[in-house]
Amino acid sequence: MTKAVSHPFFARIYPRINAFAEAHGSIEHRQELLAGAHGRVVEIGAGTGANFRHYPPEVTQVVAVEPEPRLRALAEQAATEASVPVETAAGRAEELPLEDDSFDIAVFSLVLCTIADVPGALAEARRVLKPDGELRLYEHVGSERPGFRRVQKALAVPWRLMGGGCHLTRDTERAIKEADFTVEDIRRFYFLINGRANPASPSVIGMARPTT
Ligand SMILES: C[S@@+](CC[C@H](N)C(=O)[O-])C[C@H]1O[C@@H](n2cnc3c(N)ncnc32)[C@H](O)[C@@H]1O
Repeated sequence: MTKAVSHPFFARIYPRINAFAEAHGSIEHRQELLAGAHGRVVEIGAGTGANFRHYPPEVTQVVAVEPEPRLRALAEQAATEASVPVETAAGRAEELPLEDDSFDIAVFSLVLCTIADVPGALAEARRVLKPDGELRLYEHVGSERPGFRRVQKALAVPWRLMGGGCHLTRDTERAIKEADFTVEDIRRFYFLINGRANPASPSVIGMARPTT
């Protein structure tokens, strides 16, 4: 049976956090993440469904897996206004309730920071992807700058408690390579706060494929 993920406090505040992020560039990041997407897509940890209106028409179906009940209810609402057909499902990244080799694209958007077992989640993504499928990612990551990394480490515990289990210092690109994906494209950037790149928010948008 799928283990529940329940973060009632985070689920209440995430729509406001997302609205703040959208006012500071994340709409454009989501569009970049999903540009050129096509076919069947699995979105893992879909949250409120903030990506749903950005899928291009070449996407024939999105299966959006979200374990947190309150967020999944918001995703179900967002699915009714999506740009393409979206089906929502309960489930965890580490144990996807989906068939092998059945998706063209797996989307991780601000979620590999939170998933408890990243290697397990990436192995599951590989299992459900077709051999020539794409893993798309949009994630905040650990800083490469020692000063900011120290700050991220100092904030780790309160951040995790407030942020529904979110980790600030993950090396997501490395985790993807270790999970036997080949990174084909990756862009590093900072969120813009008041028009300036904020070094406290190192992030990546990229695409990887299962290594053959
Ligand atoms: C910061 S939110 C991001 C939501 C959404 N992907 C977005 O781009 O706005 C992190 C999400 O990861 C989900 N999550 C946490 N643990 C998970 C797991 N083990 N499997 C799948 N999703 C998980 C949370 O419920 C939450 O929806």
